[in-house]
Amino acid sequence: MSTRGDFTSEVLITREQLAQRVKELGKQITEDYKGEQLLLVGILKGSVPFMADLMREIDLDLAIDFMSVSSYGSSTKSSGVVRIIKDLDTGIEGKNVLIVEDIIDTGLTLHYLKNYLSGRQPKSLKICSILDKPSRRKVEIEGDYIGFTVEDKYIVGYGLDMDQHYRNLPYISWIRVKE
Ligand code: IMP
Ligand code: MG
Repeated sequence: MSTRGDFTSEVLITREQLAQRVKELGKQITEDYKGEQLLLVGILKGSVPFMADLMREIDLDLAIDFMSVSSYGSSTKSSGVVRIIKDLDTGIEGKNVLIVEDIIDTGLTLHYLKNYLSGRQPKSLKICSILDKPSRRKVEIEGDYIGFTVEDKYIVGYGLDMDQHYRNLPYISWIRVKE
């Protein structure tokens, strides 16, 4: 347990646990797409550390691209509005696309993105998220590859932010505003 200013935080998933799980996910993805090419689509900015680690654990002919969407303002509540700020640089028709996310929370972002991208006729379209918070789901959506399932607590670190802070923590922590 540590305290930074007005917040209390506690480490939930250590850097070693993350590394181990990312390795397992990479192995599974490598097996599942054997003999195929793969396009990893990272959702900025939260997916950055996970994307960087995951891509190095995948032994395939692989390319990467990024999208930026906004579903959160600077608060910790989902607005439910998904806006595309940066679209893909490359076409995805006929490609195996794997969306890489930091967390599936309400599911609104990925639900929208999956529909949006499936309209471009990829060969396959799946989701890989390091975290899943199923208790918060507002729409029906499931990740195909999930690192860890977490409780309904606000999480930071390993790409996840609170008002743009804490993305650089090498571990995953939950954070609570002090009473
Ligand atoms: P959604 O509610 O599934 O659409 O989540 C969209 C985005 O909200 C995620 O990609 C995260 O960037 C952010 N988010 C959701 N839950 C958390 C959290 O516990 N900590 C930090 N960011 C979160
Ligand atoms: Mg975010």
